[in-house]
Amino acid sequence: MWKLPLFEACTSIIGSVDSHLVMVFQDSGKKAILPRGDQGNWVKRLQKSGVFEGKLGSLQFIRFAVKNSDQSALVIGLGTGSLLSEEKLRGVGGNVWTRLVSEKANTGVVYVDNLFQVKGAEFGLKNSRSIRAFAEGIILGAYQFKKYKSKEPVNSSYFGPSRFVFFTQNKKLKAELDFELRQVAAIGESVRVTRDWSNEPSNFGTPIYYAEQAKKLAEQNGLKCRILTEKDAEREKMGLFLGVGQGAEREGRILVVEYSPKSQKKTQTIALVGKGVTFDSGGISIKPSARMEDMKHDMTGAATVMGATLLAAKWKVRHRIISIMAFTENMPSGNAIQPGNVLTARNGKTVEVINTDAEGRLILADALDFVQDYKPDAVIDVATLTGAVSVALGKLCCGLLGNDDRLIQSILKASERSGERIWQLPLFDEYFDDLKSDCADMKNSANDSYGGTVRAAIFLKQFIRKGIRWAHLDIASTAYNLTHLSYYPKKGASGAYVRTLAQFISDFE
Ligand code: BES
Ligand code: MG
Ligand code: ZN
Repeated sequence: MWKLPLFEACTSIIGSVDSHLVMVFQDSGKKAILPRGDQGNWVKRLQKSGVFEGKLGSLQFIRFAVKNSDQSALVIGLGTGSLLSEEKLRGVGGNVWTRLVSEKANTGVVYVDNLFQVKGAEFGLKNSRSIRAFAEGIILGAYQFKKYKSKEPVNSSYFGPSRFVFFTQNKKLKAELDFELRQVAAIGESVRVTRDWSNEPSNFGTPIYYAEQAKKLAEQNGLKCRILTEKDAEREKMGLFLGVGQGAEREGRILVVEYSPKSQKKTQTIALVGKGVTFDSGGISIKPSARMEDMKHDMTGAATVMGATLLAAKWKVRHRIISIMAFTENMPSGNAIQPGNVLTARNGKTVEVINTDAEGRLILADALDFVQDYKPDAVIDVATLTGAVSVALGKLCCGLLGNDDRLIQSILKASERSGERIWQLPLFDEYFDDLKSDCADMKNSANDSYGGTVRAAIFLKQFIRKGIRWAHLDIASTAYNLTHLSYYPKKGASGAYVRTLAQFISDFE
């Protein structure tokens, strides 16, 4: 079975290693700067040959015929040191993983000493967080989703290196790396949950399936988990949530997962809300058939919330987290809601549903109202809400909107640390005019498609109570098929923003 690779920091190398990972900087575009750990003079010899300059992203694999062992080296170009960033190192990590897999490597040893900045030099890594970013790239790049392949590949026992040793002779650095690598292992496990959930086909990935998975994960990670059935949702008067699921055979579920910190010092409550449409056919306003299969990913908001909650719990953050995941299916049937139907939300407002494909905002509205009963200090919802966000920002970036500038700024700051790109879009209240209904308090969609992402957020804003700080992440652009980065799978779920959200919670003041 495939497993995530293990990371450890060591002051001496124990056990067998078969791949030496040597990172080199480029000196003003001419020659590589040699690490002192290069006993075999591999890099020196490479450098003499003139073919390897240490450009960022360049990799040179060397295989040696060493008596009684099969050793190799991967020389990794880091480019000009002053231009290097954590995000670039993450990218290098993803590429290193791919290369090591194709070379059938089993264990990598990373030489860490001598990579750090020396006084006066323009090259060198800044601190152990740089090494962490490289390790993140490896573990994020290592993901696979092979659950439904009936035939294993020929050499099925090999999935890639199972172990990485970060070698340093500096005890203080080792202790730092121990910490960082533990954080990275938690990232690997949490992002894996988000990706697995998102990739699950909707005939297996039903609301009840995710409820069961969440229960298990909660138990393993010391979290509380409560599951609301549709009956419970009726009692809660969640008319919008129930309306969306009305046409489906499979029942919806609302998951409430709670993390409470051990220490009560300076604790605040952060609420996360995720859209969990296990399949979005569009309902009676049915979608065209081309790429409709991608709509199994329409629960990625909920999957991201689960992953972020797990990661924050594994990191033992000091804030309390309430995570609501609203799972349901959007299906056409004789029982489905019809365009023009009027539904009543949990907060009493009425909505004319003129497009049953604008269903995400409906289930989020009720989930947002529900979570505000907890009196959270900040609310963030995450959803694959509009196709329009990809038109605005492309596939490498999600949209961020909200009612509180300080909250927005701290989310953007977390995104800078994680490297996951987020761009703020304006929340113009005037756009609510486009959602005026003739017969209800509002309609769920406008008559044209201008500013679709902003309009969806304006709709959500109608359900945010006075004084509540709220932000909305539209991840329809980035949830799957994020092809631009080496450490995200080219196809299927990206798992993006799990790290950003956990970082945000961790840094929240
Ligand atoms: N799930 C879709 C949004 C989506 C589109 C996610 C593409 C991922 C990729 C959402 O429910 C939807 O259908 N939105 C409509 C809203 C419109 C009818 C106002 C859209 O974006 O077209
Ligand atoms: Mg839809
Ligand atoms: Zn949807």
